[in-house]
Amino acid sequence: MPKNHDITQTRGHVLVLHGPNLNALGNREPGIYGSTTLAEIDAELRLQAKTLCVELRIVQSNCEGTLIDTLYENAGWADGVLINPAAYSHTSIALRDALSAVRGPAVEVHLTNVLAREEFRRTLVTASCCDGVVMGIGARSYSLGLTALLALLNSDV
Ligand code: DQA
Repeated sequence: MPKNHDITQTRGHVLVLHGPNLNALGNREPGIYGSTTLAEIDAELRLQAKTLCVELRIVQSNCEGTLIDTLYENAGWADGVLINPAAYSHTSIALRDALSAVRGPAVEVHLTNVLAREEFRRTLVTASCCDGVVMGIGARSYSLGLTALLALLNSDV
């Protein structure tokens, strides 16, 4: 249930976090990650959120500490978190601990099916403290992830 918000104006607040190198989507290894840019992904999420009367804050950073700081800075505002931690998914206990420390559900998304890639991508550090994971659907992983997060927020699962 959304907290501290006028139900007539918003059905929830969602923090969207993009991890390192996702700023380069569109140019970055398009054979693996596709040709959709991060700006296009964000625009699609904003459209989806507007239709559903959900407010988004979207942040991309290449820095682990900035992602963690952003989680804490938005802890009082965000009802839930949609996150692609990118490479930090496989390594960052610090980001995992921050995700565990903030309230509300979190859904992790990946453009690719990391379980079908290199061995080192099969270690999922942050996903183990998320409520759900969507991977392997390309840019659409994000919109599916937002749908999943809203279902969790509305106790519709
Ligand atoms: C990724 C998968 C990660 O292994 C990789 O480091 C990324 C992108 C994905 O969305 O498929 O940067 O998170």
